[in-house]
Amino acid sequence: MADKSSLEMRKIDLLYRRDEIEERVLELGEQISRDYADTTPILIGALKGCFVFMADLARAITIPLEIEFISAASYRSGTQQDDTIAVGPSPMVSLKGRDVIFVEGVVDSGKTAEAIIQRLKINEPNSIEVATLLHKTESSSLSFPLKYVGFEVANLFVVGYGLDYSQLYRNLNFIGHVSEFDK
Ligand code: IMP
Ligand code: MG
Repeated sequence: MADKSSLEMRKIDLLYRRDEIEERVLELGEQISRDYADTTPILIGALKGCFVFMADLARAITIPLEIEFISAASYRSGTQQDDTIAVGPSPMVSLKGRDVIFVEGVVDSGKTAEAIIQRLKINEPNSIEVATLLHKTESSSLSFPLKYVGFEVANLFVVGYGLDYSQLYRNLNFIGHVSEFDK
């Protein structure tokens, strides 16, 4: 984890202000409320990056819903990626026949989301859709549809609003781009 001095060395450029994010999340909430008007969806958030988006999205949805979380770690340090994805246990509730909305902070290659979706499908839900705050459009094509997307972003390393760089910056109330890294 970076210490305070390395934190101060980083430069973070603003991508989306808090009010822009709030407005977009409200739109997604309205859309989900319409789409799921006849059912009680289960929102399953991917920890930890989803936590701020999940809290806002859940409150923007006006129909009854349930909240669960699942964790996944894609062993990578800082901005380095590799393919090893460990998915934590599925939620304790039965998903059989339920309508699941899988909630992510950011979908990049889609490998993390794909691993979690595969895990959740074992529990035979009626449907699974994905809601992600950010989608990096320059990444390779995804093996699953993204139904609800907050913002499409370029291939930048983004932080804030739940998203981290080496566990820091999750508490920023805006989405920013880390423009200076330790290599
Ligand atoms: P994917 O498996 O390549 O789609 O990456 C998704 C996961 O990697 C997310 O759940 C994040 O934890 C992390 N991640 C990917 N890109 C970023 C980023 O720009 N900022 C912060 N975390 C990221
Ligand atoms: Mg991370």
